[in-house]
Amino acid sequence: MKVLIVGSGGREHAIAWKAAKSSRVDKIYCAPGNAGISEIAECVDIGAMEFEKLAAFAKEQGIDLTVIGMDDPLVGGIVDVFEQEGLRVFGPKKNAAILEGSKAFSKDLMKKYGIPTAGYETFDSPETAMEYLETSKYPVVLKADGLALGKGVLICNTKDEAMAGVKTLMLDKQFGAAGNTIVVEEFMTGREVSVLSFVDGKTIKIMTSAQDHKRAKDGDQGLNTGGMGTFSPSPFYTEEIDEFCKKNIYQATVDAMKAEGREFKGIIFFGLMLTAEGPKVLEYNARFGDPETQVVLPRMKNDIIDVFERCIDGTLDEVELDFEDNAAVCVVLASEGYPEKYEKGYEIHGLDNFKDKDSYFVFHAGTRAENGRIVTNGGRVLGVTATGTDLKTARANAYEAAKWIGFANKYMRSDIGKAIDEG
Ligand code: AMP
Ligand code: GLY
Repeated sequence: MKVLIVGSGGREHAIAWKAAKSSRVDKIYCAPGNAGISEIAECVDIGAMEFEKLAAFAKEQGIDLTVIGMDDPLVGGIVDVFEQEGLRVFGPKKNAAILEGSKAFSKDLMKKYGIPTAGYETFDSPETAMEYLETSKYPVVLKADGLALGKGVLICNTKDEAMAGVKTLMLDKQFGAAGNTIVVEEFMTGREVSVLSFVDGKTIKIMTSAQDHKRAKDGDQGLNTGGMGTFSPSPFYTEEIDEFCKKNIYQATVDAMKAEGREFKGIIFFGLMLTAEGPKVLEYNARFGDPETQVVLPRMKNDIIDVFERCIDGTLDEVELDFEDNAAVCVVLASEGYPEKYEKGYEIHGLDNFKDKDSYFVFHAGTRAENGRIVTNGGRVLGVTATGTDLKTARANAYEAAKWIGFANKYMRSDIGKAIDEG
């Protein structure tokens, strides 16, 4: 069969790599893709938001299955466009992708259905938000309602910071219309875990757990980024926690969406905080995590195409997900200066070292082919993943492999997965 993947990051590279392992797949296309993806798929120069063009391409080429990797097209309704054209597509429709697209929606859903999450208030006027913040407890968390590339969350330690935050989000509109409404949320402490799942509208199957490192610098210092590295599984995600979440969070979310007439088919990514009072939902995403996917999919044994199709057909209850009894660590190689100012266009050396190795992977995020060379083309450039018998071995392997790659302004954190040694 022919598969089209929509997106251009490390996540889509990992999805394409996994799809290529399916014996049922003859050819993979990726729109728009990147230099790494082009080694296993034919990249097509159509943007992820060009729904009509993508659907026309899928029809022309006789694509059997399209998989949407990114949040923006999902929230914008790409799945509805494909379905109207009679095309098979994996991902939630617009009315379900709102689970990620609106934080106010997801908070209200959790409140209505008793799903554990931080206490919150929603505001659509800066004046009332500021009035509320006069007397709120600190620290407090401000969140832009809409999509903001993962950067619309401000943790404010003082009233002054919170007032400035309201200005940034609602008056200066740093994230555009995403900040028309904001959620003001109680600050929680605890360890974060990412749990990805497949959903077919009624059944949910949980993948193995992972943890992201969002801050730019070692020791969780510096600015928030799209993610500097991940490990899987999370040793903090115990069986007891898994049981609690299965009982109170996962199926409850799927059932709530169904009850609201917003049947969810696709990936639900649960961002959880393991608080002293038990696990609570930090956020939902309606797609695979980046860079969580780069550690979760290399450990997955199932044929991913089969699982995608079961989600579309509503037969997910007939399959068990199966993961290797090992661990994986992904270290992101970024451009020095990310997430602020950085240079790009530097030649990347050493990519060939990963060829024909079973437990080492290099997933491209921001790269570009130029005159037969591959050059850096973004803040996050590559994700180097390695597996190992346990997290410590996987981590040592990933850092060894990170040395195989060279480019002029290469930067990485040196403590991805380090907390595991202390845990
Ligand atoms: P989100 O996009 O909602 O996941 O938020 C991004 C990051 O902000 C999370 O991964 C947390 O590290 C942090 N965060 C979000 N909400 C809270 C909260 N209520 N309490 C503490 N930290 C939070
Ligand atoms: N790694 C966090 C995300 O994909 O949103």
